[in-house]
Amino acid sequence: MYCFFQKYGYTHLSAGELLRDERKNPDSQYGELIEKYIKDGKIVPVEITISLLKREMDQIMGANAQKNKFLIDGFPRNEDNLQGWNKTMDGKADVSFVLFFDCDNEICIERCLERGKSSGRSDDNRESLEKRIQTYLQSTKPVIDLYEEMGKVKKIDASKSVDEVSIPILP
Ligand code: C5P
Ligand code: MG
Repeated sequence: MYCFFQKYGYTHLSAGELLRDERKNPDSQYGELIEKYIKDGKIVPVEITISLLKREMDQIMGANAQKNKFLIDGFPRNEDNLQGWNKTMDGKADVSFVLFFDCDNEICIERCLERGKSSGRSDDNRESLEKRIQTYLQSTKPVIDLYEEMGKVKKIDASKSVDEVSIPILP
């Protein structure tokens, strides 16, 4: 999938990956906090996440001003994320659309457990995954619904196999 978007000039940025990298950084004052949130399936305060995203975006656009299209993966995940984005990015970024990978909870859990055999991720275990599903239902779904009301959601049936999952055409 990333190749598909790269073809259209999008840079893929994963909020979760940026948080995991920050957690690994021994100089970071946020490492412990991030680990705790990730293991508990909770959403890290947006000040941390948005500063990591913005730093990445500024760096990429600083090196090449034409690289100004981003696929931001795993964000916004709750109301706090959304507010932080609006506060920081107001007048600076247009959100074209939200890609919603719609997938049955149990299939998501099975896939992550399979991934957990080699990922080394502290949240690829059933306990953390059940908590992540709760966070999704309580905090993320309402944000997707907001974007839905704005007509910005492109929904993909992600329950199918990789080969069968189709990506809607970009604008
Ligand atoms: O998207 P990903 O599966 O990489 O996210 C893993 C975890 O990272 C989430 O369950 C959450 O604890 C944290 N995260 C976050 N805020 C985001 C994205 C991820 O706190 N916007
Ligand atoms: Mg991810």
